[in-house]
Amino acid sequence: MEISVRTGDLLREPAALAVLAAFEDSPLPTAVSELLEADDFRGRAKQSLLLYPRGAVAPRRLLLLGLGKREAVTAETVRQASAIAAQKARELQVSAFNMGADGSIPLPPEVTAQAFAEGLELGAYRYTRYQTGLTPEQRFAVEGATVFVSGAVEQVRAGIARGQVLARGVAFARDLANAPGNAVTPAVLGEEALALGERLGLQVTVLDKAQLTEQGFGGILAVGQGSANEPRFIVMEYGSAAEGKPTICLVGKGITFDSGGISIKPAEGMENMKMDMGGAAAVFGAMQAAAELKLPLHVVGIVCSAENMPGATSFRPGDIVTTLSGKTVEVLNTDAEGRIVLADGLHYAQRYNPAAVVDLATLTGAIQIALGPHAIGMMGTSQELADRLVRAGEASGERVWQLPLWDEYREMVKSEIADVKNRVGRPAGAITAGAFLAAFAGEMPWAHLDIAGTAWVDRPARPYQSRGATGVGVRLLIELLQSYVQ
Ligand code: BES
Ligand code: MN
Ligand code: ZN
Repeated sequence: MEISVRTGDLLREPAALAVLAAFEDSPLPTAVSELLEADDFRGRAKQSLLLYPRGAVAPRRLLLLGLGKREAVTAETVRQASAIAAQKARELQVSAFNMGADGSIPLPPEVTAQAFAEGLELGAYRYTRYQTGLTPEQRFAVEGATVFVSGAVEQVRAGIARGQVLARGVAFARDLANAPGNAVTPAVLGEEALALGERLGLQVTVLDKAQLTEQGFGGILAVGQGSANEPRFIVMEYGSAAEGKPTICLVGKGITFDSGGISIKPAEGMENMKMDMGGAAAVFGAMQAAAELKLPLHVVGIVCSAENMPGATSFRPGDIVTTLSGKTVEVLNTDAEGRIVLADGLHYAQRYNPAAVVDLATLTGAIQIALGPHAIGMMGTSQELADRLVRAGEASGERVWQLPLWDEYREMVKSEIADVKNRVGRPAGAITAGAFLAAFAGEMPWAHLDIAGTAWVDRPARPYQSRGATGVGVRLLIELLQSYVQ
């Protein structure tokens, strides 16, 4: 979408559609309030009202959009309001519209503008790749939006540009996670990484099955051994550790389809397990955005990719697997496969001696039960890193909620016959998965983000989401990376 900025009066500018965002219970311009009856529009958050002013103001359609109370406005308010605006414009089949706020938004102009652009672009996102019979109305896409401001034009432009980079990163992640398992295999993720590297000058390494065998990636190999689509280990490196730039590693779970393996999942809902590479997708989106923003950091994106299938060559309950670290895993349930592939990825990250390592994984159903679609579950070994992630979550709207990793939980994953076991009981299911990972994170400042509840929505939980993959993690990670700049 083309987003432009100008100064002037929204209500004096002829347009097919103008969107006026207004605070709760603050008086509207007279020309607008004269069009209303009683309390039909009070500016409550997410309230909207479409008017046909018939010449009372210049735009042919006027959409009033509530922002709620002025003192409660955050970047998330703006993100949601602009997503609603983009969706209304699409419903009305208006290809370009104007938007402005009635009164000033109590946030820095650059922050507001970034959230505005994120909301517009993400609210307009749809996954239509495989729909061949769409009518022109169904195919319709809003092409332009102009924001009317009273000043700070340069800051607003910069915020918009940044928001658009982030939204492109999120859309990239959504596209990858929405794609079916037959289209996005581990090999295809490897090719995506090489293409991204080519485009943005990243240094990319993709290890295939033979190389994984040679180098001892026992975890990834075990999970992938039942599938004809062979596993891959992917490293994407942006920048370098020269000039004292801190190194941050991002590790993504990239299970391109999770059938559960021999411990097979129930048929109902299994189709959604094409999204079990949502963590990897977030790493891809964040690498793209970090490079496009030219962040002065050394960022290493690591993806552990395999397809988890049942078959004659599958790994099985009872198997003992030797991971890249040399530590052994007793496999009690082949459906707890994510932690096994991540064991190799986390151990690998140690070679960079990073200032921080964050892994992202659609790891447990238990986190979905605990937090629903409204927060990412976090565990880790560095409170400083955890605090940064909580702050990044508030700023990005991708909220993070920390769970404990007390010694008692680490005891629970110890095995009687190997070093650790991959399944405990149902109690503390999300935490014991984190405790398993902790065994492979060594002494690095590390945080684990369980995105199983937030990476996919059957029904959007926010106006800027659409059914399917959310691309969660991309905006959070960029916000986190930004905290390491300077
Ligand atoms: N990929 C699943 C977790 C998941 C569940 C992701 C729902 C997205 C939505 C993971 O591999 C898994 O199957 N976890 C098991 C672990 C259990 C067997 C210890 C789970 O959570 O049931
Ligand atoms: Mn599983
Ligand atoms: Zn899984």
